Amino acid sequence: MKELLRPSPFDSPQGDKEKLERIIADFPILARPTSRGKRLVYLDSAATSQKPRVVIQALVDYYEQYNANIHRGVYEIAARATAEFEEARVKLARFIGAEVDEVVWVRNTTEAINLVAYSWGDTNLRAGDAILLTELEHHSDLVPWQLLAQRRGAELRFIPVDERGFLVLDDLDRLLDGCKLVAIAHVSNTLGTIAPLETVIRRAHAAGAVVLVDGAQGAPHLELDVKALDADFYTFSGHKMLGPTGIGVLYGKSALLESMPPFDAGGDMIRRVGFAHTTFAAPPRRFEAGTSNIADAIAFGVATEYLRAVGMGWVREHERALTAYALERLAAFEPRGLAIYGPRDPAFISGVISFNFADIHAHDLASILDTEGVCVRAGHHCTMPLMEKMGWAATARASFYLYNTEADIDVLCDGIEKAARVFGL
Ligand code: ALA
Repeated sequence: MKELLRPSPFDSPQGDKEKLERIIADFPILARPTSRGKRLVYLDSAATSQKPRVVIQALVDYYEQYNANIHRGVYEIAARATAEFEEARVKLARFIGAEVDEVVWVRNTTEAINLVAYSWGDTNLRAGDAILLTELEHHSDLVPWQLLAQRRGAELRFIPVDERGFLVLDDLDRLLDGCKLVAIAHVSNTLGTIAPLETVIRRAHAAGAVVLVDGAQGAPHLELDVKALDADFYTFSGHKMLGPTGIGVLYGKSALLESMPPFDAGGDMIRRVGFAHTTFAAPPRRFEAGTSNIADAIAFGVATEYLRAVGMGWVREHERALTAYALERLAAFEPRGLAIYGPRDPAFISGVISFNFADIHAHDLASILDTEGVCVRAGHHCTMPLMEKMGWAATARASFYLYNTEADIDVLCDGIEKAARVFGL
């Protein structure tokens, strides 16, 4: 589903600088100093993004003005709640280029993947079938498939990653032989690597496999058209793309969703219930048992409209430029022992840089950065097998979004300089 964008309220004759200032002004938390009186330099958007005022206000409006359950009440505020909730689904469909009925509300990417693993996986996988993953996967796109493989007697295979953080597709056809499902992250949450999705999806389909894309780090940052991509399932979380926590989306091609049994059962997902037997609603409601996360779905819709107004092309280009700047500034520390992991060409990275500094533990580095107001994640980033393969105990990870600036990266580098002084490097 496509619609022409209105002229963006962010576009201005002053160009990108003023646009960026307007965006930053929309995020109340970015104006709030830390307890040490430092400017908040938020470089952890891969963990969760900050929220613009319009998203926060959408939550307040729902609870203050029309809090009611959906799909049930006939009274005015219930009708409004239902309309706003279903309108949010339309907004999500528009954002990813899907049909409205292909958008299933879930809690987050993790729940979406589990839904597919249980509903589609338990129905379609047989003993001896293969599931193909990559070595870059987050635990949430690994553990559900391990459990499915155990339940069904299936085999897990992995597309390898090389030492630069790129997926190696040399053996793809052999890996796809006998494969029923491919699950692949659009963007690595640890290294930022953008997966060669078009190639993997095309060859997986030629081999008869269904493809699920873990889009948790893709949908927030890259222009997306699920139809053009031809993914069978695409999953993502609201909180990583300016929306609230507790709401996400499973996109599935309608024929696939139609063929799948329910995952959760209860109210709101039925057609007819008898004491002995139940028939189920059509997708997407077949997969939305119980009272939905109404307020957060509505606010997620508002978040996607905000991103559309900014322009996803602009978001990508802004992050690409920031990544290039950060790589250049961080490289200056390399002679003193800073190691940068993952691809070094910003064209292949989406706003994530992992690094270590000499023998400073990543958690110590993150703690020193925190004293300067800089928020980065440190640890294994829920990718323990990747860390083990690469021989890293932990990394520090800086991740960028539309509200970050080159000044943020300068503060990050000042913090790294401070760590060097503290540790006598
Ligand atoms: N998956 C999130 C991250 O990478 C939490 O930080």
